[in-house]
Amino acid sequence: MKCDACFLVSFRYKMTALQVLLLCFIAGSQALLDTRAFPPDFMLGVATSAYQIEGAWNEDGKGENVFDFFYHTQGNETGDVACDSYHKWEEDIQNVVDLGAQFYRFSISWTRILPDGTLGNINQKGIDYYMNIIKALKSNNIEPVVTIFHYDEPLHISKLGGFLNDAIVDYFGDFARLLYSTFGQYVKYWLTINEPSIICLYGYGSEGFAPALGVIGDGIYRCSYTLLKAHARAYHIYDEEFRATQNGKVSIAMEGPWYDPSDPSSAFDQEASERALQFREGWFANPIFVGDWHQILKDRIGNRSQQEGLARSRLPSFTEDEIAYVKGTSDYYSFNVYGTVNTTWIPDEEIGEASYYSDLGVNVTDVFDDPAGIRKFLNWINDRYNPGEIMITENGKENGGGLEDDDRIQYIQGYLSSILDAIYEDYVNVIGYSAWSLMDNFEWGTYSRKFGLIQVDFGSPNRTRTWKKAAYWYKNVTASRQL
Ligand SMILES: *[C@@H]1O[C@H](CO)[C@@H](O)[C@H](O)[C@H]1NC(C)=O
Ligand SMILES: *[C@@H]1O[C@H](CO)[C@@H](O)[C@H](O)[C@H]1NC(C)=O
Ligand SMILES: *[C@@H]1O[C@H](CO)[C@@H](O)[C@H](O)[C@H]1NC(C)=O
Ligand SMILES: *[C@@H]1O[C@H](CO)[C@@H](O)[C@H](O)[C@H]1NC(C)=O
Ligand SMILES: *[C@@H]1O[C@H](CO)[C@@H](O)[C@H](O)[C@H]1NC(C)=O
Ligand SMILES: *[C@@H]1O[C@H](CO)[C@@H](O)[C@H](O)[C@H]1NC(C)=O
Repeated sequence: MKCDACFLVSFRYKMTALQVLLLCFIAGSQALLDTRAFPPDFMLGVATSAYQIEGAWNEDGKGENVFDFFYHTQGNETGDVACDSYHKWEEDIQNVVDLGAQFYRFSISWTRILPDGTLGNINQKGIDYYMNIIKALKSNNIEPVVTIFHYDEPLHISKLGGFLNDAIVDYFGDFARLLYSTFGQYVKYWLTINEPSIICLYGYGSEGFAPALGVIGDGIYRCSYTLLKAHARAYHIYDEEFRATQNGKVSIAMEGPWYDPSDPSSAFDQEASERALQFREGWFANPIFVGDWHQILKDRIGNRSQQEGLARSRLPSFTEDEIAYVKGTSDYYSFNVYGTVNTTWIPDEEIGEASYYSDLGVNVTDVFDDPAGIRKFLNWINDRYNPGEIMITENGKENGGGLEDDDRIQYIQGYLSSILDAIYEDYVNVIGYSAWSLMDNFEWGTYSRKFGLIQVDFGSPNRTRTWKKAAYWYKNVTASRQL
């Protein structure tokens, strides 16, 4: 019951002021119990990433990264200008403020601060750019949630082998330490790396995503092995050198669809679903939250490697020290999720060309929207890893454009509602939700896939921003804090 209704009731029954106050108090408490209201400390935010919005790819001392290089050499579009947020950041932060967001998740371009990825050259103009953003957020009471690395590997580090060479563990640690010491007094939520599975699966496993190495049989697993150590280095540096004074939290933004069993009553499809979740989510979550690779990965990749006549598994083994070094390196669980796939058991493929996909060996549909899936996913994560706090660092809906984006409103409404079910009915501790994305941006190769709450006119040199219906709707949600 809303309080305007209280006053109607009080008028009708000629109540005293005290009685009206009491009635309003009861109505207010009722609102807190309303399962469509967000818990008081639940944070609603919006997200972006550096390469997708900043542009200014070679301005003010920024160095080249693998996506600059990749889109300069293939494809029709580049992120050279993107949303031009490097020049329009004040307008963008004002939009974050006007949306009523409690946090803004953005990433720091490694080569804007360290042009070749190493401490050999520190670019003060890059530091100033992010310091301005962080201070503008703090002065508006908005929490910066900072992704240290969102795909855009320095080209120089890539020439050394990127995540195929342990050198990146040192270099990434150096970069993280610089960010903690520079921005850490203002930043309480850090994400070391965005979507490790996509980096290794697409960047290293395919040729369609930078650095486009196409090493799908062995390189992808070596990528994950090195990446986990780089993440752990960044975590330990925070833990040992900064936590006591800065008191923040460090996590890693995992990703994947929810793998639903195609036939929920089939034990085969249930096994296929669990296997797929372990190959995508558990690939990184198991070493971090449990310790070591999950047995399913060790068995399947090891077995196929043996049948291929290899001397050892394509999945590198962690030493005991490495298992201990990686385990426990996340203060909260964070993940990006966009949909569900149906997962069907199939017989193992014949031994042939080695691939992550034949190691996994299940059949899946295309990703589809499924609000119920996120609730199942949250429960799966909670049951497997018991992480304490979970943050949904990306979720959103793409379409072909237009300001009347009822499809996006319906999607986000459905997902948020399902998240509230997980909170109130399953007691999963979800602490925040970040809509992807603040605005339309460079969706890795194209500007035609639109994820923004706010439209960006890529045909205009001004890159004019216009609020879509979903932005007005999201502002209502952040203001009322209920669905
Ligand atoms: C580039 O554009 C052409 C023509 O529109 C299209 O056929 C091709 O698929 C595009 N290439 C990429 C990599 O997007
Ligand atoms: C390897 O996989 C094959 C085919 O699935 C299976 O028959 C065999 O038992 C497995 N061997 C080991 C050692 O896991
Ligand atoms: C996924 O499976 C459900 C039943 O479990 C079915 O209703 C739905 O149509 C399937 N979706 C796709 C895309 O196959
Ligand atoms: C995977 O499922 C699709 C759709 O049901 C089917 O056409 C295809 O043959 C299946 N693939 C395998 C390897 O079973
Ligand atoms: C760009 O913005 C400037 C300044 O607001 C304005 O004068 C100009 O007309 C705009 N150009 C376009 C193409 O929108
Ligand atoms: C936002 O709330 C206002 C006031 O309740 C309402 O008039 C408006 O239609 C809402 N906007 C959207 C897009 O839901």
